[in-house]
Amino acid sequence: MGVREYQSLTPYATALEENWGKPPGNLNSDGENLLVYGKQYGNVFIGVQPTFGYEGDPMRLLFSKSASPHHGFAAYYSFVEKIFNADTVLHFGTHGSLEFMPGKQVGMSDVCYPDSLIGNIPNVYYYAANNPSEATIAKRRSYANTISYLTPPAENAGLYKGLKQLSELISSYQSLKDTGRGPQIVSSIISTAKQCNLDKDVELPDEGEEIPAKERDLVVGKVYSKIMEIESRLLPCGLHVIGEPPSAMEAVATLVNIAALNRPEDGISSLPTILAETVGQNIEEVYRGSDKGILKDVELLRQITEASRGAISAFVERTTNKKGQVVDVTNKLSSILGFGINEPWVQYLSNTKFYRADREKLRTLFQFLGECLKLVVADNELGSLKQALEGKYVEPGPGGDPIRNPKVLPTGKNIHALDPQAIPTTAAMQSAKVVVDRLIERQKADNGGKYPETIALVLWGTDNIKTYGESLAQVLWMIGVKPVADTFGRVNRVEPVSLEELGRPRIDVVVNCSGVFRDLFINQMNLLDRAVKMVAELDEPADQNYVRKHALEQAEALGIDVREAATRVFSNASGSYSSNINLAVENSSWNDENQLQDMYLSRKSFAFDCDAPGAGMMEKRQVFEMVLSTADATFQNLDSSEISLTDVSHYFDSDPTNLVQNLRKDKKKPSAYIADTTTANAQVRTLSETVRLDARTKLLNPKWYEGMMSSGYEGVREIEKRLTNTVGWSATSGQVDNWVYEEANSTFIQDEEMLNRLISTNPNSFRKLLQTFLEANGRGYWETSQENIEKLRQLYSEVEDKIEGIDR
Ligand code: BEZ
Ligand code: MG
Repeated sequence: MGVREYQSLTPYATALEENWGKPPGNLNSDGENLLVYGKQYGNVFIGVQPTFGYEGDPMRLLFSKSASPHHGFAAYYSFVEKIFNADTVLHFGTHGSLEFMPGKQVGMSDVCYPDSLIGNIPNVYYYAANNPSEATIAKRRSYANTISYLTPPAENAGLYKGLKQLSELISSYQSLKDTGRGPQIVSSIISTAKQCNLDKDVELPDEGEEIPAKERDLVVGKVYSKIMEIESRLLPCGLHVIGEPPSAMEAVATLVNIAALNRPEDGISSLPTILAETVGQNIEEVYRGSDKGILKDVELLRQITEASRGAISAFVERTTNKKGQVVDVTNKLSSILGFGINEPWVQYLSNTKFYRADREKLRTLFQFLGECLKLVVADNELGSLKQALEGKYVEPGPGGDPIRNPKVLPTGKNIHALDPQAIPTTAAMQSAKVVVDRLIERQKADNGGKYPETIALVLWGTDNIKTYGESLAQVLWMIGVKPVADTFGRVNRVEPVSLEELGRPRIDVVVNCSGVFRDLFINQMNLLDRAVKMVAELDEPADQNYVRKHALEQAEALGIDVREAATRVFSNASGSYSSNINLAVENSSWNDENQLQDMYLSRKSFAFDCDAPGAGMMEKRQVFEMVLSTADATFQNLDSSEISLTDVSHYFDSDPTNLVQNLRKDKKKPSAYIADTTTANAQVRTLSETVRLDARTKLLNPKWYEGMMSSGYEGVREIEKRLTNTVGWSATSGQVDNWVYEEANSTFIQDEEMLNRLISTNPNSFRKLLQTFLEANGRGYWETSQENIEKLRQLYSEVEDKIEGIDR
């Protein structure tokens, strides 16, 4: 597109010059003209949305407000609307850039960039069903009609290599421990566990050390518990193809997880609950015992898991035809239900120790699972697209986690979130207490019995939508207040919980809300700010109320009143999102960690003030830094069962662990915790434990990377992304062990066959993978042999030649 044509088709082009100079500029341009990348197939143009354009530009990344789209970005949409004359645009995939361009949060005006860019084109948008928060932004800021699509079928991570050997050793220990072979097997378990780097997760005795008989069970139990945790993690296998629902058998892991949650509101007991009752146990106690490594509980939990999978597979098998398609679940169900031993789950369980399981409870549960199965394999992704393209109504439905809320299914719906004033619910408050209490217990246990004075934590929109406000409720419980709903169920008041009831001091918080959370939950930011200020003004002793203690100190240091000093609820400036640390890491455009921390401070230090609610977000960097400097721990919640710390770049983008260390007077590294409430047995793990778990279940797990490789070039990019995100964690928290990089290098570089597959499948992503390994070493996050580094350098130059088409 020539510059003149661009200017005449793009009335707002001159406004972009302030940030990008005269067109064409140097992004999506050949120096004279603007370039629109894509290919036309008759009436269809398939194009590539340009990027923000400031990824490689540290100065722009630092701006507290993002600048504007660049000329190439604007030219792209001018082309689509005015030259190609599109009747509609279909944005394909989640988390694009158009709807995150600067402008108002909601209610766009004609000078807001998302509005200018989308122009008059109807916007249809395929969006991941599990991301209702960003889908809402796409709807509000770019008028999108979203159509939900399913995430890939989940499978259990399983075990491989040394981890598999360990599980075999453990089962031989269980059958042979009383034969005198016990000590020998335990010593093999210990050495294999060390080879698998499990010594950071489990306290292991020295090799050769004499272990008293009664302690052997506990050592084995702890290792066992760890590997069962790895085995049963869910992971998405490969990538989802639009319009291709999972087969019935692929849906089994999803159903097992659906069956693992109690649903008291529907009178449904979870399968693990029913099975544990059958042998006279309470499932919560089995979970606790297993977490502690008590061998008999770990073993019982494994049997329960195995029986759950078996019973559900038996059921699914009976509802599918030879081709693996689900056929008429409703009729099948009514013909099998109530026929006692003929019920496939009863049949299966009759050969296990759970043969006496309560038939009535099982029947209620499997009836529900039958409904879920129908929904999991139903598909309306292409049907809804057709409706939308015909200008017809697309049925709405909630977005979220299909395991918690099967109403998310079937996909193909126009995604909606929830009534923001309805959260946090009473149930969310109950779950939040469990997590906060565990977090505080853990912190005390690791810090000589001392309570944390301040916790720096992150609030996202998505998980709050999925859990009806659990993370929000966690903050309230930390500072010791409870939400109060009015007669319409709207939560718009809080009241303090007495110190007696709380049984501990009120913990101070510094809340970092994502830009998405700010857009979706501004009333709840108001509620939080009111809660914090209320607590700061309570007449309580400093050692029982750390919010007040710190606010008094900060008020004096800054010469302001306590109420103003009690500012704890931060986010980006209005209309701006993210700390941009993820973009800097993805593009290697950063010099040192201080630069990343500067970015975090300058973009994330905007506070909400309930005393001036109409004023928008105001920069309060001094208070932000002061309160961060008091943090003893950082904390974040996992958003979903299938997306963990290294799957997306946004988790480390929000992480302030190293920043807190830098701001603290004593330069002590804060503890860092991640809560996982996505499965039945909620966990609070340290950040480094979670990073290790993630590496073991994904990046280093053949089941995961082979699943990715079967998706072709995009699969290689997914592998490369995990490594880049791992470097992100090194940069923001320093919580990645050396062996993670070392093992990744053995898996992808030292294995000649794998190496060649990666190069031929996607040389560009492979080059980025090499660059990321070299960067991990260069920045001091990975120590390895000179030989490994030489090999990476040599490969880098070979691949570069290959990409440039030079054959030496
Ligand atoms: C959120 O839901 O708040 C969120 C989504 C994607 C990236 C970061 C935050
Ligand atoms: Mg992005």
